Amino acid sequence: DPRRDLAGKHVVITAGGTREPLDPVRFLGNRSSGKQGVALAQAALARGAWVTLIAANLEVPAPASADVRRVGTALELDAAVTDAAAHADVVIMAAAVADYRPAAVRADKIKKDDTGDSLLLELTRNPDILAGLAAAGRPGRLLIGFAAETEPDADRLLALGRTKMARKGCDFLVLNRVGWTEGFASDRNEITVLDRRGDIVCEASGSKLSVAERILDLIV
Ligand code: C5P
Repeated sequence: DPRRDLAGKHVVITAGGTREPLDPVRFLGNRSSGKQGVALAQAALARGAWVTLIAANLEVPAPASADVRRVGTALELDAAVTDAAAHADVVIMAAAVADYRPAAVRADKIKKDDTGDSLLLELTRNPDILAGLAAAGRPGRLLIGFAAETEPDADRLLALGRTKMARKGCDFLVLNRVGWTEGFASDRNEITVLDRRGDIVCEASGSKLSVAERILDLIV
């Protein structure tokens, strides 16, 4: 690739979706495939970056030349990204992280004979890893968040993105629409990127690899 414009940079990327165990055989999860995060890793490697990929339950193979750290839960992702981010130039949080985890993980499989016709699960809030990294920010390190939303209305989607940007405090927020078929498992993506002020700095649609290139162009 002629554009070695990320040569010498350390880029940390989270990809996939966390799974929060309920018991030894079950989890609460989400439909993230990890394709967008893996595309970002491939594109960054091609542009000369040293890439740490924090991989949460990927449905696609991780690039061979990335430093891959496998994680399962949000708390494991938190520990891995906090460790890797200490020396990173760029952190891209593309993973879908569970906002809540079961308050207690059962040692044995939950039995319907014990729980009857309805079962109430108590959940505990997970830390917001992105907001935590932004709050502890290191000058010179760029932080990119993602926001997967199901809001169909473009104006309301933008308003949601601006509120989220204010809450998270990252440098760029990549908004994308997700649903039963769009976004997560798809090979294509459609994104709107906001800067710190909530202004639109990029709109792109196409393959996840082409969208990744546009995000990296902004970072460069
Ligand atoms: O608040 P929401 O989950 O929509 O925010 C999405 C962004 O925040 C993503 O970049 C995701 O990786 C990150 N996130 C996080 N910690 C959480 C939840 C989301 O870092 N507990």
